[in-house]
Amino acid sequence: MDTYILSIESSCDETSMAIVKNGCIDIATVVLSQMNTHANYGGVVPEIASRMHVESITIVLEELLTKAGMTIDKIDAIAVTYGPGLIGSLLIGLTAAKTLAYIYKKPLVPVHHIAGHIYANNLNKKMEFPLIALVVSGGHTELVYMKEHYSFKKIGGTLDDAVGEAYDKVARVLDLSYPGGPVIDNLASTGTDQYDLPIPLNDHSFNFSFSGLKSAVINLKHNEEQRGNMVNKNNLATSFQNRVIEILSKKTMNALKEYQVNNLIIAGGVSANKGLRNKMDKLCEENNINLSYPDFKYCTDNATMIGAAGYYAYKLGRRADLNLKAEATCNLE
Ligand code: KG4
Ligand code: ZN
Repeated sequence: MDTYILSIESSCDETSMAIVKNGCIDIATVVLSQMNTHANYGGVVPEIASRMHVESITIVLEELLTKAGMTIDKIDAIAVTYGPGLIGSLLIGLTAAKTLAYIYKKPLVPVHHIAGHIYANNLNKKMEFPLIALVVSGGHTELVYMKEHYSFKKIGGTLDDAVGEAYDKVARVLDLSYPGGPVIDNLASTGTDQYDLPIPLNDHSFNFSFSGLKSAVINLKHNEEQRGNMVNKNNLATSFQNRVIEILSKKTMNALKEYQVNNLIIAGGVSANKGLRNKMDKLCEENNINLSYPDFKYCTDNATMIGAAGYYAYKLGRRADLNLKAEATCNLE
């Protein structure tokens, strides 16, 4: 029997819904991004984000059902991101999910946003275990060990800024557009690594720190300007990105070795980074690691990944009732 999950994601600035079959087949997905609005402010404005979710959520649902050619009575369960994320944004998706679950008498399945990013990798080909997941996004930088489906052991994380956040802040300082990740990624491919920036938290732990590197970029630009010089943005983007990739790749390869795992998945918005992909492709080939990334369209926030994760949560019997709360921060479990 096939299982159809209707999933909802609204943790940040994308209003998204999807219908996913058996945790791996994207029947239909709708993503309504607010990115152009927030770009005017150089970052996500929480109050605007939640208002826009309210305006979009029913339109997204109607479009989804039309696209899928399905009605809600054919759905087995409603999966929803309950956290982490912006509380006002989460609340809109959560309220929609509870309403649908209540009216149509469907089970409500709570999904952690990071579980969603990880399970975006199940939409390409089935995930193989045990694995290490490197989750790199605007809100997270985590290394997670998974022995089997839906078993998450966080082995390290950022002590301050998330890597995507550092990309966005550095882009802002360099007067580049928001979101900064893709812009810096493109610039980095054309520059040379000529700036002396530190490799952040270059130790034997699995933790990360990006605020020092970010500050180093800001100070460097400031000092050059004081001397009447302009920084070369392409070269600075290259140096910044090289340090980021160096530390992410080093700690990920160390984790694979320590946990004796040869399956690696990379997830989250920053997994779209071309420089990171090139480096990881090379390292994984040299070390016989089976590497997977999501399709580009599943790297940034979307409900399809929540439907993929939601399927396994549903099969494990995870359920929430109408008291399910939105959580700005919560542990991956
Ligand atoms: O996963 P996501 O859509 O949202 C969160 O859950 O945070 O990730 C968004 C982040 C932004 O910080 C954006 O700058 C970054 O992913 N990003 C990238 C690239 N594409 C998106 N960072 C580096 N290189 C990219 N190509
Ligand atoms: Zn995300």
